[in-house]
Amino acid sequence: MATIAIRYFSRTGHSKQLAEAIGEALNLPALDIESGLEKPVDMLFLCNGMYAARIDGKLKDFLVANGEKCGEIINVCTSASGRSTRSQLEKLAEKHSFHLSGKEFCCKGAFHFLAKGRPDADDLKAAAAFAVAVTM
Ligand SMILES: Cc1cc2nc3c(=O)[nH]c(=O)nc-3n(C[C@H](O)[C@H](O)[C@H](O)COP(=O)(O)O)c2cc1C
Repeated sequence: MATIAIRYFSRTGHSKQLAEAIGEALNLPALDIESGLEKPVDMLFLCNGMYAARIDGKLKDFLVANGEKCGEIINVCTSASGRSTRSQLEKLAEKHSFHLSGKEFCCKGAFHFLAKGRPDADDLKAAAAFAVAVTM
């Protein structure tokens, strides 16, 4: 049976919400990236947000330290624009030799007057359904 972990980096709580929805669906703990991976895993759901068109430096540090312990990393992201953080993760994956899955889930996340109310209940449901489908 595949080993799966969930980690999030969240400045304003949206990525945490997605991670918890996925955790509930998969019956796994959703932990902050401050909890590194103790053991290698087959699959990591990495929930994160976009800040000034970038991922946070702490997420980079986590990936440098833990990326190689993951069979594959699945990007789960939010941003006010709905744009993915994928291009940033791809650069890191290339440099630090970890495998970024082609599958990902992204949705809008509120920032000031943009994307108000997101992620909403439908986003959380969709993230959970995505995670279930990916792990089947
Ligand atoms: C300081 C800051 C900068 C942001 N910059 C961007 C940005 O450049 N592009 C974008 O689409 N969203 C941007 N956002 C919106 C966040 O990506 C969005 O709110 C996301 O859901 C945050 O995830 P989190 O709550 O897990 O931290 C920014 C948010 C913050 C707080």
